Amino acid sequence: MVNYPKLMVSEKGLNNSLLSVNGLSVDFETIYRKIEVLKEVSLTIVKGEVVAVVGESGSGKSTLAQAIVGVLDSPPAFITRGEIHFNGERIFPKDGKVVDYRGKGINMVFQEPLASLNPVYTARKQLEESAEIAGIPSKNKVRERVIKSTLSELMIRDVERVMNSYPHQLSGGMRQRVAIAMAIIQRPKLVILDEPTTGLDLIVQRKVMSLLLNLRKDNDSSFLLITHDLAVAANTADRIYVMYAGRIAESGPKRDVIRDPMHPYTQMLKNSIPTGYSDSGPLNVTEGSPPDMAHLPSGCPFNPRCPRAFDKCREKVPPLIDVGDGRKVECWLYER
Ligand SMILES: Nc1ncnc2c1ncn2[C@@H]1O[C@H](COP(=O)(O)OP(=O)(O)OP(=O)(O)O)[C@@H](O)[C@H]1O
Ligand SMILES: [Mg+2]
Repeated sequence: MVNYPKLMVSEKGLNNSLLSVNGLSVDFETIYRKIEVLKEVSLTIVKGEVVAVVGESGSGKSTLAQAIVGVLDSPPAFITRGEIHFNGERIFPKDGKVVDYRGKGINMVFQEPLASLNPVYTARKQLEESAEIAGIPSKNKVRERVIKSTLSELMIRDVERVMNSYPHQLSGGMRQRVAIAMAIIQRPKLVILDEPTTGLDLIVQRKVMSLLLNLRKDNDSSFLLITHDLAVAANTADRIYVMYAGRIAESGPKRDVIRDPMHPYTQMLKNSIPTGYSDSGPLNVTEGSPPDMAHLPSGCPFNPRCPRAFDKCREKVPPLIDVGDGRKVECWLYER
């Protein structure tokens, strides 16, 4: 059941934001229990901006992305609260329904590349369809040239073979790049990439990310980049949202969040980024394990792993505190 909340965003606030998610909550309902997977998540992306959502496995990143494009399977997922606006229009709730927004200004590359591709068609057919939707003419082989140059830019060398292959004949990394090509060929206003570089080696990863950044410049496209890797976010994003147990633990301009992380969880993530070759001892890894969403502790969900936790952290969930300069942090340490 979807509750329809009151309008929470002023029209003025929407003017310069391309995407605005306000107070979004999602539950997964199984026969045994109901799990709150997203809890009042708010996020904005302005035109031409690259925003990264960073967090450990199970923190709710893919759920957030799927809710934005309107492809969350319901059941088991239910959006219980919140609104989503895109390009000045309310896209959730929309006429009382969840609407699939793929291809309507938002494109998404799914975490599992097979989910972005149709198994019964060759890559060529799917890329052509995508280019046709974008209005790229087939006359004089224009469409073919655009497809081939996009694939080459994604560091695919044997373009002909890849185009003539079915998804199952391609490696994971190759599928991922075909899915990225399909998403960007249409030059959408917003591209959502869910762990886009996981199956790629480091050089291809860098190349793919720099291609995406060029697209932003040439086309004013915006990107929502979902990653478990703070270093990938640090290299690409303008702003970062750090997610923990379905909440935004911290958000702010990339430079500030990386240089001076405020939330102890972000500090822990930063300390686990490798800093090049070193003989100064083993790499720091994040301590403790990601929380079990079905059995969260009382108070701040990070408190059992937090080296700075005090009594209040174990009793009450902290509010999201606006600390100025575009930064917000959900932590009792910053209570004024
Ligand atoms: N189909 C489902 N049924 C029940 N619970 C689910 C389902 N899909 C996801 N969840 C729950 O939702 C939570 C968030 O999952 P989600 O896939 O959004 O996390 P994620 O941050 O994308 O993780 P990863 O980094 O592993 O991709 C998980 O903890 C999981 O327990
Ligand atoms: Mg995921």
